[in-house]
Amino acid sequence: MTRHFLRDDDLSPKEQAEVLELAAQLKKDPYSSQVFAGPKTVALIFDKTSTRTRVSFAVGVSDLGGVPLIMDSGTSQLGGKESVADTAKVLERQVAAIVWRTFAQSGLEEMAANSRVPVINSLSDEFHPCQLLADLMTIREKIGDPSGKVLAYLGDASNNMCHSYMLAGVTAGMKVRVAGPAGYQPNQKVYRKAEEIALQTGGSIDIYTDPKLALVDSDVVATDTWISMGQEAEKAQKVKEFAGFTLDSELMSIARPEAIVLHCLPAYRGYEISAEVLDGPQSVVWDQAENRLHAQKALMVWLAERSKA
Ligand code: CP
Ligand code: NVA
Repeated sequence: MTRHFLRDDDLSPKEQAEVLELAAQLKKDPYSSQVFAGPKTVALIFDKTSTRTRVSFAVGVSDLGGVPLIMDSGTSQLGGKESVADTAKVLERQVAAIVWRTFAQSGLEEMAANSRVPVINSLSDEFHPCQLLADLMTIREKIGDPSGKVLAYLGDASNNMCHSYMLAGVTAGMKVRVAGPAGYQPNQKVYRKAEEIALQTGGSIDIYTDPKLALVDSDVVATDTWISMGQEAEKAQKVKEFAGFTLDSELMSIARPEAIVLHCLPAYRGYEISAEVLDGPQSVVWDQAENRLHAQKALMVWLAERSKA
């Protein structure tokens, strides 16, 4: 059966740990898997802009012996010209995997439903699960087993990163606390799913509107842009509504003194995070960005192996 990775909870706690262990091995020995030898081609489709995801998937596919084919909806028939289902039926006969950054999660579901090769969500409006594999890998490297550790996410609690922190965090057994202004709270279905996973793993999920409450005793502090791709017109309004949510030294002083700071990047210094914190000693964002490469290679190897007929 073909395995896809469309949202963080597509991997069970055991499977997530397997992918993260493989990621650590591939970081040590980058060419040890040649799963795409042939070379096989992997389609990387971008409906939104990207630096890290584009580079890390392209490099990752090459490292694994394959060829990355970078596509976008503007120069292909995707994006209203041809259906997602018909696109999937064309691609699955020629590529080894489909990696897609898009808007609606439903598009990814339709792609996966029509594809016999793995489909990977490389960011949608609802989730950014590949980013969370890199984040958890970074947490393991810096502070060890994430299980039982407190992860605080501040900012837009209704966005893709927050939803992924909730699902992937509790899958790893973390105590996840998210804080966003009223009106920017998580999707209720995602919240309920995170609660259900937390019951199995010993993790927990708590939602706040006061960032200070979320930060108490935190081991990991994460934030993300207040203005996600596609929301540019809302910038002036959101900047007003997010007053008090800038992750600066004062807020960081509430976290544990040895807490690490994560940001998926790109960062907007002076808005969701101060320059002092992003560029300061607790920040591990450059290792986090590098780990996209290792974590996604592990994911591609894992999915390819599990999807063999
Ligand atoms: N963090 C992340 O996904 O970065 P890009 O948008 O540059 O790919
Ligand atoms: N929430 C951000 C993440 C960017 C990697 C966005 O969707 O634009």
